[in-house]
Amino acid sequence: MTSNKTVPVDNDITIVQLTNDPYAIYKKLRASTPVLKVNAVKRTFLTKAADTRYVKMNPQIFSSDDPNTPMERAFEAKTLMRRDGDDHSRLRTAMMPAMAPNTVKQTWANRIEKIADDYIDKLPTGETIDFFQAFAGPFAARCVAEVLGIPKASDNDIQRWSQILIDGAGNFGGLKEPFANAEQANIEINACIADAVSTCKDTDLKNALAVQLNAEHPIEMEHIVSNIKIAIGGGINEPRDALMTVLFGLLTNPEQKEAVLQQGTLWLQALEEAVRWVAPIQVSSRLVKEDTIIRDFRIPAGDVVMTIQASANHDEDIYDQPQLFDVFRKNSRHQAFGSGPHFCMGTHLSRRMLADVALPKLFERFPNMKLPDPAAVIWSGFGFRGPLNLPLYLAE
Ligand code: HEM
Repeated sequence: MTSNKTVPVDNDITIVQLTNDPYAIYKKLRASTPVLKVNAVKRTFLTKAADTRYVKMNPQIFSSDDPNTPMERAFEAKTLMRRDGDDHSRLRTAMMPAMAPNTVKQTWANRIEKIADDYIDKLPTGETIDFFQAFAGPFAARCVAEVLGIPKASDNDIQRWSQILIDGAGNFGGLKEPFANAEQANIEINACIADAVSTCKDTDLKNALAVQLNAEHPIEMEHIVSNIKIAIGGGINEPRDALMTVLFGLLTNPEQKEAVLQQGTLWLQALEEAVRWVAPIQVSSRLVKEDTIIRDFRIPAGDVVMTIQASANHDEDIYDQPQLFDVFRKNSRHQAFGSGPHFCMGTHLSRRMLADVALPKLFERFPNMKLPDPAAVIWSGFGFRGPLNLPLYLAE
């Protein structure tokens, strides 16, 4: 297979535009230039669903091992997200048992229910609150702290560490401050994990620290630590943002909310539609290992492609009116949890936390909750995206 067509280059799109309103840009790109080098990001954007899936399903051509990402410095480790093949699966398999469907059901389900009850009990009635601060952030932090085996870490610390690690991993400009913050956060996280080891070692606990320490053939301690760090960095924002997005979708579409409340079995469908609609992780990068061709364009080895799953999830080839939140959408095969070997490890956990527990419990307690001013909700983010606030009026 040969092609002489070089990938077109864009010099106009800015990171600010991508942060404020990426979907309008992706819609244009899908129609006109679905393979496009965007200079502001120094990456080749792939915006069609078939292409993003193809890249993630072919790691021998499109590697996760990009030596130029700031992630290594921010996490003080080459994490499993930047590894391929056996090297990747060895680290992934070590942590997986803590988040496998059976463990989520047998070990975490009750605990998650208790956390949800406790945090819902703290919410006031008859007041407008910022749901981000009052529930979505702390709830995600507490569930993940327990599943990882570091329950002594406070909700604030976990949320702060997560944001700092994400900011450091996205610090492509090499600014000093994000790396300095990450250095400090790493010291704190390392101390927190070291403190938790004695509680987890030689137990049959099922948290991520315990299953890794007590495996028959444990991986090295540095990898155990980096696995925990990746789950802190990748496990807080996403369920938090997904929960706010599904609430926004339901509360701005009251007929869908009524149907979901009446049927009682559609919570998972609502969650999946929310993450399709606004993917919490919008993009992923892969390093091209050998000269290859996508949509007839020559992509040289050494290039970095960006699979835009946010755009794939709005691809008109798959979805009618993709810009609309529609719980009753027939085709729900989205890519919000990724595809291929790096498919999200926290998928089952997130579904349990949000669709099985938090959403039904929140609506049971506040069946008449309202979003008084949807326009006051600020959506932001290019790499990660979600509401920065969610002012909810909590009514019984
Ligand atoms: C709605 C919630 C979530 C969404 C939408 C989400 C999304 C994703 C996506 C798209 C990836 C793949 C990234 C890539 O291909 O480069 C990923 C990977 C990952 N996620 Fe999630 N995630 C969520 C929740 C969680 C939670 C709660 C945890 C753990 C506590 C978690 C842990 C991970 C890990 C460890 C990976 C890396 C897997 C690997 O590289 O093998 N995620 N997630």
